[in-house]
Amino acid sequence: MIQLIRGFRDILPSDVPLWQRIEQTAVELFEAYGFAEIRIPIMEKTELFARSIGETTDIVEKEMYTFADRQGAKQKADELLTLRPEATASIVRAYIQHKMYAGDPLHKFYMTGPMFRRERPQKGRYRQFYQIDAEIFGTGSAYADVLLISMLTELLRRLGVDDTKAHLNSLGCPECRPAYRETLTAYIDARADRLCEDCQRRKTRNPLRVLDCKVTACREAMTQAPELIDHLCDACRDHFAIVTESLADLSVPYVLDKRLVRGLDYYTRTTFEIHTEVLGAQSAVAGGGRYDGLVEALGGPSIPASGFAIGFDRLAEIVAQKQPAAVPAPALFIAPIGEEARARAFPWFIELGQAGVTCDIEMGGKSLKAQMKRANRIGAAHVLIVGETELVQGAAILRDMNTKAQQAVPLERLVATLVAELG
Ligand code: HAM
Repeated sequence: MIQLIRGFRDILPSDVPLWQRIEQTAVELFEAYGFAEIRIPIMEKTELFARSIGETTDIVEKEMYTFADRQGAKQKADELLTLRPEATASIVRAYIQHKMYAGDPLHKFYMTGPMFRRERPQKGRYRQFYQIDAEIFGTGSAYADVLLISMLTELLRRLGVDDTKAHLNSLGCPECRPAYRETLTAYIDARADRLCEDCQRRKTRNPLRVLDCKVTACREAMTQAPELIDHLCDACRDHFAIVTESLADLSVPYVLDKRLVRGLDYYTRTTFEIHTEVLGAQSAVAGGGRYDGLVEALGGPSIPASGFAIGFDRLAEIVAQKQPAAVPAPALFIAPIGEEARARAFPWFIELGQAGVTCDIEMGGKSLKAQMKRANRIGAAHVLIVGETELVQGAAILRDMNTKAQQAVPLERLVATLVAELG
């Protein structure tokens, strides 16, 4: 038997109601704040991700699903395609390509969909996973960052998850980060022999990532490392102060996480992750931040932006732990007995469905006993029984599965009556 690909997963019908509820809750909340849905392709030119996420990040270095567009053709850089590992780069591309900044540069977008990263699969970490993503273009205001973090907190609250915390940091800007980078590099160089192989490589190309390394030796070597938050320029410090003060005003819980550097290189200033105890090792259920330089770096005008992505799979896991999903049950199960009754009842079933009554019918020739068993199993609220006797008498029997009460429903007004009662 052919199995699915390692790290990929099926979302089964029993899980889907929860996924739908999460998505509906998110959409309702985001649209209240003026976010509009954008749909972007699942593949882009590799270069887009390499240039935005960063050549030296784990994602670009080792996790992307990349292939040549044409098999056998001489591989040119611009013919390499990649299954999207995230959505921000594509949304920025679309924003620039469609000149959405012309007129009013302020735009708020959201999207949901699958992402692909060839990571080592484990609980909460998949190679195809889903994100709910939101982005704000056209404002550098700290309040945009606060809106994003407060939306995340509110979404989780509406889904019954309230033991989360926003981890916050500021990654500075091109004014202050280069000087900090030098200070950090000097600190790292003095301890280089104690670092893991990955960090040996990172230390010149991307020294901030060393701060984030999970290897014990690296963590120990980095305990006294200078923190970026203490080296911000005045403008970045003021910006960050507004974020933290406003979050406090709104009673949004957060902690300052000076080592939060994120795994993507486009960030400037505010960065954040939402963590929860429930998930164990993969504790980040969402992450995001400000990326003021990215639109320009990808060929657009200099326009600031900020956003986040929620790990949909992880969020669904948390919500499922909090409140087991209720399986949706139909309002009506139609139980015809005999060939003639089935032929009469089938159009009722079609019409009831068209009228919005959730219903099901036995299409084979099962016995009434077997049909009642099935109606019970699927949790139907009512069963409509119609056999030869009912056809002769001109009325079917409607049974309330809860109270066991039964009533006769005249056949000539059957659909209208049931729509009125159950619709
Ligand atoms: P990210 O931190 O790479 O950020 O991903 C966001 C969230 O996606 C993570 O917190 C996690 O919940 C989920 N996630 C990531 N990788 C996996 C995986 N392999 N399996 C399951 N879930 C995963 C971004 O992607 C940025 N584009 C966020 C952003 C938007 N920044 C600004 N705007």
